Amino acid sequence: MSKHTVFVCKSCFFSLERRDYLGQRGGKYLCVRLQNLAQDWQLKNDFFIQEVECLSACNRPCVVAFAAPKKTTLMFGDLPPLNSASVVLKFAEQYFESYDGLIKRQDRPEVLQKGILARIPPLPALSIATQ
Ligand code: FES
Repeated sequence: MSKHTVFVCKSCFFSLERRDYLGQRGGKYLCVRLQNLAQDWQLKNDFFIQEVECLSACNRPCVVAFAAPKKTTLMFGDLPPLNSASVVLKFAEQYFESYDGLIKRQDRPEVLQKGILARIPPLPALSIATQ
């Protein structure tokens, strides 16, 4: 199966009112928690955790996006950085198992039942037309 990726914004504020927590951005804190938690994760060789500078949803910290070839890309905001790492990995497992990347709202972890910011269809399949 092709590689899957969760993009994690490392620049997100800790919250709308507060930029840093323990000297780092909320997004960076979440990135570090995710990387640590993923060391023992069953999907660690199949799912990239990719830090990015910004996902352009800066007023909805923290922000992550799940993407894979032939699947819908899903972006979520409003993730509390202190306790969202396990939720992100749980949802990543659901996303990995799904055929098209779409997971029903009621089946997602609670924090991801709201806060969806984008749902982007997969790229159309290339057709090789011979004439
Ligand atoms: S700072 Fe996180 S989305 Fe822009």
